[in-house]
Amino acid sequence: MDLDQLAALRTPEGSAALAAATEVAGGDPLAAAAALRSAGVPAGLAAAALTQAELRRRAVAKFGPAAAGMFLTRAGLEQATRGVVAARRADRLRAAGVRTLADLGCGLGADALAAARAGIRVYGVEADPVTAAMAAANAEAAGLADVFTVECGDATAFDVSAVDAAFCDPARRRAGTGRRIFDPNAYSPPWDFVTALAERVPHTVVKVAPGLDHALIPPGAEAEWVSVGGDLVEAALWCGRLAEVPRRATVLKEGPPVNAFCIGRAPCNHPQPACHHQLTGSGTEEAAVGPVRRYVHDPDPAVVRAHLVAELAGELDATLADPTIAYLYADTPGATPFARCLEVTDVLPFSLKRLRALLRERRVGRVEILKRGSALEPERLRRDLRLAGPEAASLVLTRVAGAPTVLVCRPVTYPLDQEAAAG
Ligand SMILES: C[S@@+](CC[C@H](N)C(=O)[O-])C[C@H]1O[C@@H](n2cnc3c(N)ncnc32)[C@H](O)[C@@H]1O
Repeated sequence: MDLDQLAALRTPEGSAALAAATEVAGGDPLAAAAALRSAGVPAGLAAAALTQAELRRRAVAKFGPAAAGMFLTRAGLEQATRGVVAARRADRLRAAGVRTLADLGCGLGADALAAARAGIRVYGVEADPVTAAMAAANAEAAGLADVFTVECGDATAFDVSAVDAAFCDPARRRAGTGRRIFDPNAYSPPWDFVTALAERVPHTVVKVAPGLDHALIPPGAEAEWVSVGGDLVEAALWCGRLAEVPRRATVLKEGPPVNAFCIGRAPCNHPQPACHHQLTGSGTEEAAVGPVRRYVHDPDPAVVRAHLVAELAGELDATLADPTIAYLYADTPGATPFARCLEVTDVLPFSLKRLRALLRERRVGRVEILKRGSALEPERLRRDLRLAGPEAASLVLTRVAGAPTVLVCRPVTYPLDQEAAAG
């Protein structure tokens, strides 16, 4: 997509082509192109409209219904922050008193739009001309063009002296190839600019890869890991006055509360569409080690990456069975949004023969396989087990005090089991 194609898509003729492309997006691409051409849409416009409609279709997973009016590039969409994550960050900035924000490398504007919706005046800077033009178009489509403006330029030259806060989500993919960059020094804007930014602007947030090395967390910054629906999606460094705790794990659920915790225990009173739960701590505590107990808890990846397993163990009155493996064991099922809980029915030193015999005896034909600290390949194991039968089980492949072990488990169903445990 170039600037001329974007301009063409924003004319009345382009809007009509986009509307026609939206109707056929997701189907056979050749048939879709033929349908647009037979409707009299010129070939170039038809191709641009079909690409845009397809990107919008994919973008629904990130942005929900708002995707329908957005202009997108493939690279920009891949790098854009999910709507629920951006909205929560924007709410936190607003609650911290931020009223003006520089978004340094704003991409298509997912974060900037969320901040603008939260009532923050956003000045976006974007180096790529097409992406910058799309971000501006997205602001207009959202009715936010007066509170989110975009300039095409180098973010490192932007004067941040007049804003309350700075946000930077550096590009972590190589332009052209789209390949991931793992070395922060190769981010754009570069890591030294990003870390120095925190010294210049007292309220600074930096979005980083969830695999960030803890050694790179600037002293005094809060490092937050965020998961959505159990998938680890990003980390953020909250610097200067925005830092509240050393480490935070934020667990977001999209849509109405559906997990056992929300239904069975605490009413989830966070704003929809996402309810969120937060666990905080130092990130340096170590959980106690003990035997395998009746319930095993598999912590959310945000908790594990934030090094908050010990804090969760404290909440669940749980222990590890191996100091290096993040499964937590307790005598009662923990109703927590920070871990999935399973009831352990059997503990076996790992042996394919013994496991197969046990599962046959139980008439288990379907297994889900979880693993931490095991080199076994779940799919290979599933094949080797040659299961048959009407029952289901969960297998946890792990180590206990260093020894390869398999736990045979069943799900804990809330709220019935909880009531049983309480009564
Ligand atoms: C990860 S994306 C931002 C995504 C954005 N937060 C969103 O959610 O839509 C990073 C963007 O920074 C831009 N960029 C990289 N280096 C830049 C620089 N020095 N100045 C301005 N923009 C830059 C890239 O073109 C890219 O669009």
